[in-house]
Amino acid sequence: MKIAIIGAGNVGGTLGKGWAKHGHTVTFAVRDVNDPKLQSLLRDAPGAKAAPVAEAVAASEIVVLATPWDANEAALRGAGNLAGKVLLDCTNPLKADFSGLAVGYTTSGAEMVAGWAKGARVVKIFNTTGFPNMANPRYAEGPVVMFYCGDDAAAKADAAKLATDLGFEAKDAGELAIARLLEPYAMLWIHLAMKQGFGTGFAFKLMKR
Ligand SMILES: NC(=O)c1ccc[n+]([C@@H]2O[C@H](COP(=O)([O-])OP(=O)(O)OC[C@H]3O[C@@H](n4cnc5c(N)ncnc54)[C@H](OP(=O)(O)O)[C@@H]3O)[C@@H](O)[C@H]2O)c1
Repeated sequence: MKIAIIGAGNVGGTLGKGWAKHGHTVTFAVRDVNDPKLQSLLRDAPGAKAAPVAEAVAASEIVVLATPWDANEAALRGAGNLAGKVLLDCTNPLKADFSGLAVGYTTSGAEMVAGWAKGARVVKIFNTTGFPNMANPRYAEGPVVMFYCGDDAAAKADAAKLATDLGFEAKDAGELAIARLLEPYAMLWIHLAMKQGFGTGFAFKLMKR
């Protein structure tokens, strides 16, 4: 798949490296293509390139949003025409002190992203675990579960394939408004990692009888 990744930081960089190694066509959609940080990232992402945001988005079928919450609206405004694109929202609307969600619990960051990204087929995914688990979602007990939600079945199928390619167990959680559950669920991971001393080397697993 042709994938543009807006935000080449911890999450965007990790996902891009994984997909590039898996043969996808990855373009890091960045504000400054000469940023020295990109050099080592591109070295570790075979065949990937960097391009200005709107150019990268125009050339891709999948757009990954991996920017800080307060940059989302501006990043999407700079992305050009998103109509018909599959938009994977990996972001969490975190308060600055990580104490909770800046948007509360009666809406979700994903629904706000869908409002900004006119016509995009938004899927919430890759927000519920830390980026080290995106680099390696395989534990001795099995793969890390990756829940996703959205209103477009074909877009969700693309998202699930991209999660499976990385090694996750991808699970459909329902419509886009279920992001109101997936974002607080991400807060639990963050709370355990940062405040309960778990660190980043743990993950949630799905068990079924
Ligand atoms: N860290 C995690 O483990 C984790 C896990 C799940 C979800 N998330 C969520 O994923 C998102 C990214 O987190 P992160 O840890 O990857 O952050 P990060 O390492 O700080 O990376 C953020 C990236 O966004 C870019 N950016 C900022 N404003 C932009 C704009 N207006 N247009 C284009 N690019 C812009 C930055 O580029 P510059 O270098 O140019 O500033 C940087 O490359 C956040 O919403 C976070 O809540 C994080």
